[in-house]
Amino acid sequence: MFICYNEKMNIKDEIKKYKSILENEKFKQLEKYIAHGNTSTLKHSISVAELSLKIAERFKLKINKEELIKSALLHDLFLYDWHHAPKEAGLHGFTHSKIAADEAKKEFNINDRVYSNILTHMWPLNITKIPKTKEGIIICIADKICSLRETFSR
Ligand SMILES: [Fe+2]
Ligand SMILES: [Fe+2]
Repeated sequence: MFICYNEKMNIKDEIKKYKSILENEKFKQLEKYIAHGNTSTLKHSISVAELSLKIAERFKLKINKEELIKSALLHDLFLYDWHHAPKEAGLHGFTHSKIAADEAKKEFNINDRVYSNILTHMWPLNITKIPKTKEGIIICIADKICSLRETFSR
């Protein structure tokens, strides 16, 4: 279950294995929403998965690859334009991780570790929701790097 990367893997092929997510109708709808700059949430989610795997590979981390990829792909599974989020939804930065985790649980029946990784990906903004797994820490970092890149590559 846990994998230590000693050899080069094809990151894009690793992610393509997750057809049940990539071909899911709800997941595909993320193409309609903008994450940062002019990058869709769908593209952003795949970039976070790719970078998470690169980080694990680069530092030869012993990680659960399936949980890492699922957590990354589903970490922003919310179906609204956050730039125009309804007021009652609260401040997007603080609320969307719970929305995404609940949506991912409903749609993909993810386990508790993946749920927790999604829930905590906005740390340290969500100061009390601290990542509890290695995979959670990796996606938390990868998400920030991808978000910055997308914001400044307009
Ligand atoms: Fe997010
Ligand atoms: Fe994100």
